[in-house]
Amino acid sequence: MAVLNSCPYNILPRFTGYTIQKRSISSTIKFFAANNDSASKSNPIPLLTPYKMGEFELSHRIVLAPLTRNRSYDNVPQPHAAVYYSQRATNGGLLIAEATGVSNTAQGYPNTPGIWTKEHVDAWKPIVDAVHQKGGIFFLQMWHVGRVSSYALQPNGQAPISSTDKAITPGHEGGDWSPPRRLSVDEIPGIVNDFRLAARNAIEAGFDGVEIHGGNGYLIDQFLKDQVNDRTGRVWWDLGKPMSLCTGNSGINKQRDWS
Ligand SMILES: Cc1cc2nc3c(=O)[nH]c(=O)nc-3n(C[C@H](O)[C@H](O)[C@H](O)COP(=O)(O)O)c2cc1C
Repeated sequence: MAVLNSCPYNILPRFTGYTIQKRSISSTIKFFAANNDSASKSNPIPLLTPYKMGEFELSHRIVLAPLTRNRSYDNVPQPHAAVYYSQRATNGGLLIAEATGVSNTAQGYPNTPGIWTKEHVDAWKPIVDAVHQKGGIFFLQMWHVGRVSSYALQPNGQAPISSTDKAITPGHEGGDWSPPRRLSVDEIPGIVNDFRLAARNAIEAGFDGVEIHGGNGYLIDQFLKDQVNDRTGRVWWDLGKPMSLCTGNSGINKQRDWS
């Protein structure tokens, strides 16, 4: 299984990934024209040419970007998603599914899908099957919004979790953001474990890989950004190291066992 990283653009290119075997992450892969030295203005690479992305032989270079749809009622992917994704699938083409919550604290918008229960896994299976029937390669995007959330979307109306207890500016982008609760050091392994279990569930659902959502101001990004991470002492490294997922360095390779 493979992992892509969706990282802040000023840290790394979006597409830097790891190949994940069923039991451990094995090697780093870099892919796509963005990282391809041979691509230039004078020597462009046509989109409709094959690309070897780690273990995958893509038949072309057009990728469905992850797009939040808010149609997974009570966080359960719905049968109509099989129609939506299979309509966009091509033989040998890569699709990345919409951002999908790794736990019951991960949601920041209503009706976004989850991957932390058996019901979620079972609901994803026919959707993944529909894409595979068209020959598509299908990745799940794993997501935790952190403080980009509100009490209404949190279990028992609790505060969203983050690297800070500072709230997003009220009303920013029209959101009803609630003040978050800063995670303690002891809680961070549990969050990392949520991502690990979500990856396992993605395997169970039949996905070919996962992308870790590390950008756009969500949880991992909150730990990586000085303006948002106001923890002292052991700071973002607590989450950032295991989630170096985002850094492309090999720290994760030494300690991760996603099986
Ligand atoms: C409605 C909408 C939903 C999106 N949902 C996600 C998402 O779930 N995960 C993500 O990483 N990016 C998401 N994005 C960002 C897109 O994947 C994409 O990166 C962005 O639109 C820039 O690509 P473009 O220039 O082709 O529009 C979303 C964008 C839009 C417009």
